[in-house]
Amino acid sequence: MTITLVWAQDRAGAIGRAGVIPWRVPEDMRRFKEITGGSTVIMGRKTWESLPTAVRPLPGRRNIVITRARDYRADGAEIVAGLEAALDAAGEAAAVIGGGEIYAAAIDRATHLRVTEIDVLVDGADAFAPVVDPDRWESVTVGEWLYSSTGTLYRFIDYRRR
Ligand SMILES: NC(=O)c1ccc[n+]([C@@H]2O[C@H](COP(=O)([O-])OP(=O)(O)OC[C@H]3O[C@@H](n4cnc5c(N)ncnc54)[C@H](OP(=O)(O)O)[C@@H]3O)[C@@H](O)[C@H]2O)c1
Repeated sequence: MTITLVWAQDRAGAIGRAGVIPWRVPEDMRRFKEITGGSTVIMGRKTWESLPTAVRPLPGRRNIVITRARDYRADGAEIVAGLEAALDAAGEAAAVIGGGEIYAAAIDRATHLRVTEIDVLVDGADAFAPVVDPDRWESVTVGEWLYSSTGTLYRFIDYRRR
């Protein structure tokens, strides 16, 4: 099974603050759409709730939401009780799209990582990317640092499991 973790992080590995992503880099959103378009996306309940209603469920993708709550309802998404159930439901391929709790649970199962580094340092972050152990992951593409239309520097790095 192909399991791709997709995230954007700041220089210290932060991915979120108070339930949202604390930067705006439209180029990263475009890449996220390219990577996940047409596929199954797996996310934690808090990430689901962080999606703007206009893109909840994420259009053109099969949305799977992980929660411990038995009676949780998420219109347009399938609800499962844990990561294994999510992967079973997904079948051959899935993109795990956050947040911090779900990345931490999924990294040992992942086959590919598609990371965006954002050249900022977020104060007060409360959600973090998993640690990428260089003994387990090799970078296959390290993009150039580029300026976003918003002025923020970013780059894309792809890893595959060694
Ligand atoms: N920068 C990025 O690329 C990126 C991507 C995605 C999200 N984010 C950010 O990350 C933050 C959210 O991340 P988070 O770590 O707080 O939350 P999360 O991983 O999105 O969701 C956590 C929730 O998932 C459920 N869950 C976790 N482990 C489970 C398990 N083993 N079994 C069953 N359910 C489980 C629980 O839901 P219940 O409480 O309902 O049981 C838990 O509260 C937000 O700020 C969001 O904006 C950033």
